[in-house]
Amino acid sequence: MTTKVLVIDDETSIRRIFETLFRFREETLLTAPDGESGIELARTEQPHVVISDLKMPGISGIEVLRAVKAMPFHCEVVLMTAYATLDAVMDAVRVEAYEVVTKPFEGTAQIDHLIDRALEKQTMVVERQRLLESLKQANQDLEARVQERTRELQQALDNLHKHQDMLIRQEKMAAVGQMLAGVAHELRNPLGIIENSRLDLQDRLGTGASPELAAGLERIDRQVQRAKKIIQQLLDFSRYGSEGTEIIDVRNLVTLTQQLLEHEIKTHGIMFSAKFQDALPPIKADPDSLKQALLNIMLNAVQALAPQKDRRLNVEVGSSAGAVFISVSDSGPGIMPQHMKDIFNPFFTTKAPGQGTGLGLSLAYVALARAGGRIDVASEAGQGATFTLWLPSAPQTVKI
Ligand SMILES: Nc1ncnc2c1ncn2[C@@H]1O[C@H](COP(=O)(O)OP(=O)(O)OP(=O)(O)O)[C@@H](O)[C@H]1O
Ligand SMILES: [Mg+2]
Repeated sequence: MTTKVLVIDDETSIRRIFETLFRFREETLLTAPDGESGIELARTEQPHVVISDLKMPGISGIEVLRAVKAMPFHCEVVLMTAYATLDAVMDAVRVEAYEVVTKPFEGTAQIDHLIDRALEKQTMVVERQRLLESLKQANQDLEARVQERTRELQQALDNLHKHQDMLIRQEKMAAVGQMLAGVAHELRNPLGIIENSRLDLQDRLGTGASPELAAGLERIDRQVQRAKKIIQQLLDFSRYGSEGTEIIDVRNLVTLTQQLLEHEIKTHGIMFSAKFQDALPPIKADPDSLKQALLNIMLNAVQALAPQKDRRLNVEVGSSAGAVFISVSDSGPGIMPQHMKDIFNPFFTTKAPGQGTGLGLSLAYVALARAGGRIDVASEAGQGATFTLWLPSAPQTVKI
């Protein structure tokens, strides 16, 4: 790009001086006889240095200076004046004139020198701006890289915590499971004896039992059955190794579970919806424990919704990154933040005594872990709860 110098002066003789001078200089000289055309020329030509008379008819040198300084490129401005009043100089300095020189000039050497220095300053300022710009850019890049790395590290840390939590929970559950299996076995015998004794009593009394006695025997039977169910759950919880795993169609699994709950859903007037992604990959798991897990989670949602005004239950089934998910969302009261860490623990329940054993979620947790999956929970008090079951999709087999 050629270096350009613009001279603005209404005096022809001054413009001539510059024209003569620039015959010996390598820069291109542009001239204008007044401020208005000078500003226009500066706008189109973007000169490196503007040398303007201070006092001209029409637009003054100060106005030229202001206009040029507001343009989107950097150029140095030299103002020339025959009478350098202090006010004029102060004005010029305030608007960043490079220099104010008095006319007449002392000789061409003075002008040459002035132009050289102004051009040098212009180059330096532009270079500094360029450096500052690239420094700013480098800083932004660095900041973006640091943010990116921090995000990655945070993600890795979160994953690590998740896995740690899972491991701790699994270990804890294995230990609890062993203990529970022992207790459950021990309880089976006395429970069997109670049941047999009740049958014996009933046989002996035959039809002659008073209504109070018959009601008492029935109560014993109900509670024995309930205790047996709990014992069965405890044994399920502590059962190890994968039971017969099968290829499972998740769509079927959800539909079957929903059918099991149909009565409850209708009774409580719950708005139920299910959304299935097309072409779901199959999964491999023990069908009974998986059905039980989904049932426990959907039943919890139904139970949470029952006393609510707004009762919505949505199930969404899809796949992502080699895993199938079943997400169960309810518009219930949600889970209190302080309970979040406990809900998968065996026997944790917020239900009234006799209403829940607190085994539903721990059983579901174990079932998912055995199938190589996991359960995620998202909930805020008052905002409902979403339980998402993740299961790794089974390797594709070729059907003949
Ligand atoms: N959808 C839900 N909304 C609100 N709270 C929930 C939800 N699901 C689970 N919880 C909370 O988690 C606790 C533990 O659930 P879990 O299924 O393990 O036991 P439970 O439902 O209390 O008893 P059980 O399932 O043995 O009848 C519940 O008592 C409840 O506080
Ligand atoms: Mg439950």
